[in-house]
Amino acid sequence: MKSELRYGVIGVGSMGREHISNIKVMGGATVTAISDPHSPSIAAALEMAPGAKAFSDHRDLLDSGLIDAVIIATPNDTHAAVLKDALATDLAVFVEKPLATTISDLKSILDWDAKRSAMTWMGLEYRFMPPVTEAIARAKEGGAGKIHQISIREHREPFYPKIDNWNRFTERTGGTLVEKCCHYFNLMDLVLGEQPIRVFASGGQSVNHLDEKYDGQQANMLDNAYVILEYASGARGMLDLCMFGEGSFDKEILTIVGDAGKIESFLPSQTVKASRRDSIGDLSNWAQGASRARGSEVKIVHNYDVKYMGHHYGASYIEHVKFRDAILNSTPAEVTLLDGVTSVVTGLAAHKSINEARVVEIKELWS
Ligand SMILES: NC(=O)c1ccc[n+]([C@@H]2O[C@H](COP(=O)([O-])OP(=O)(O)OC[C@H]3O[C@@H](n4cnc5c(N)ncnc54)[C@H](O)[C@@H]3O)[C@@H](O)[C@H]2O)c1
Repeated sequence: MKSELRYGVIGVGSMGREHISNIKVMGGATVTAISDPHSPSIAAALEMAPGAKAFSDHRDLLDSGLIDAVIIATPNDTHAAVLKDALATDLAVFVEKPLATTISDLKSILDWDAKRSAMTWMGLEYRFMPPVTEAIARAKEGGAGKIHQISIREHREPFYPKIDNWNRFTERTGGTLVEKCCHYFNLMDLVLGEQPIRVFASGGQSVNHLDEKYDGQQANMLDNAYVILEYASGARGMLDLCMFGEGSFDKEILTIVGDAGKIESFLPSQTVKASRRDSIGDLSNWAQGASRARGSEVKIVHNYDVKYMGHHYGASYIEHVKFRDAILNSTPAEVTLLDGVTSVVTGLAAHKSINEARVVEIKELWS
């Protein structure tokens, strides 16, 4: 393998161009080809990577002989069709989340991937946001003891506009709990080291996009939900999602609680907070304030190696460095298609739970 890798990017909308920005600054790689059927996307990407050859069809890019690795950043419901062609090559493949939008596509992708020897990397970069990385590491080192609860609150702004408005429709995205929240389900599984066995969710479209129609079709993306997960170990997870919460000071709060303490990460304030129960002392009477945890720690976490912050606190840059190094060193993908599968299955199960107003066992969707 060459030391200067040649990258192709399929789908050069907003995320594809964040990938190009990362590749341009990290070193060791160049964008040599791009593909997108939408000419304004191509034009914007060529301004960033003027030496790249542009294609309107991803198959021509894959056949071009111009690339060693390919990044797929097309709309969610197109991932499976593009992957079918990309996984048939011996290129290193990076595919954006969510891996796919249906169970049958997930199964097909695993079948195609099983036939190849080149690396396939699942693009799920939230674990690489520096405070999240630190919170996960502390949890893995036992900072919270045995973990029983993990919750993620995301209170943010509504979905941004996308090319062709693909992100306004559950049919094209897999639904909000797949499109957006696969990230969070993957984090929960990563911290706990297991996948959930059952899901109960409540959610709906209460505020956003209610007055939006495209080709006569009402935009139908859910904008708020609570999702509760149960794990075989007895641990519990909870997602609290609100997409009309743009006034929030911290938009993403990860909370890990175990029998020995609590670890939290806050974004965008880039803070980790941690406390241990044994630092609080004996709370058997009211003489000592329960709110005074002497061992509590508050830390701002930055990664000064990040050369491009993008829209994800530098996480997509860090992920790119790891992807590049895995190619150069022939090491396995740190984030795998299995991460992609389980995070989507949980999201699909949560939507099923909402639609059918009942607890859903994961084995109903995937056994
Ligand atoms: N990791 C993250 O945090 C993150 C953030 C944003 C988006 N994403 C993911 O990235 C993907 C793209 O999202 P986006 O925000 O860039 O959307 P976008 O609408 O801005 O861009 C998508 C681009 O893909 C192009 N496209 C459509 N079909 C194609 C095909 N068959 N071949 C090549 N190009 C094609 C479109 O013309 C458009 O230019 C989605 O899967 C999305 O979920 C991930």
